[in-house]
Amino acid sequence: MPQTGTDTQPNAAVDYDLLERQAASLLEDERDFIANCANFAAFVYDVLPLVNWAGFYFPDAHGLVLGPFGGKPACTRLPAGRGVCGKAFESAKTMIVDDVEAFADHIVCDSASRSELVVPLLHENAVYGVFDIDSPVLARFHEVDKVGIERLVRQFIEHTPLPNQYRTERLSAGARINERIDVQTCLDHHSVLRFLLDEMDQRATSPAEMIALLKRFRNVLLAHLKLEDEWLYPQLGKSRNAIVRGKAERYRREMGGLRAQFVEIWRKWSPNGAIEANVDTWRTEWDAFTHALRGRIDTEDHDLYLAAEADLA
Ligand code: SME
Repeated sequence: MPQTGTDTQPNAAVDYDLLERQAASLLEDERDFIANCANFAAFVYDVLPLVNWAGFYFPDAHGLVLGPFGGKPACTRLPAGRGVCGKAFESAKTMIVDDVEAFADHIVCDSASRSELVVPLLHENAVYGVFDIDSPVLARFHEVDKVGIERLVRQFIEHTPLPNQYRTERLSAGARINERIDVQTCLDHHSVLRFLLDEMDQRATSPAEMIALLKRFRNVLLAHLKLEDEWLYPQLGKSRNAIVRGKAERYRREMGGLRAQFVEIWRKWSPNGAIEANVDTWRTEWDAFTHALRGRIDTEDHDLYLAAEADLA
């Protein structure tokens, strides 16, 4: 019997070695494409903890179309290049989104979904579609899940003849398209951060509302810093232009200071009752931090991201 997904801890260990063997034995005696897609999706949906949807999308002339899945009914069509699925398909890279609300181009099929992992179906240097997994828990998918689920998808591909009609040559400029979209994503994060700062300045009437907004703000900020750390700075660090490399290094260093300031603010003020107990000090410290942060995101928009767009174009 397959291992069953009864764990409730996001970090509970999943035995991907076992799941890989189970996936192989589920698929190895069957060569029918639809039967294998259906069983593979149902299997992943059943065995992975904290998952509310798992299934396939395949390409047609307009974008991606829903395939077999486990979970609630989902969007049937995703326009070309859109959503997390479109991005994973076009870039031919696995995508992890820790907070779908902070990912500007996420397509909502079920409002219960909070994080998502999408693996492209890669075979002989072509892409055949994607396998998408949604979770109701923020930041559900870690590196270990990425590697593990990619291995499960590899089992599916090895045991299933993929229809030629889905074969899509990898875009030669795929990586560059991906990079341009990601600068846009950084800009979109900034808009959300500004919006949340304005809400906290102008509309939060009680400490409880302030804390709720502070939590939203933290989620977006962490997703944003992760994108900058794992993608933007390393990309710009490879630039042939020494000015761009220097700029990236300087911004990275300076952000370290603001990040530390935020960590301290979160430690001090997020516990229940902390703001109520000392509203004036909270205001002073928060204002000082947000003043510095607003300045920083404005300069990034007008300097760093402009340079990034030009450099990565
Ligand atoms: N969220 C996906 C759409 C598919 S559903 O999650 C099932 C996306 O943004 O591509």
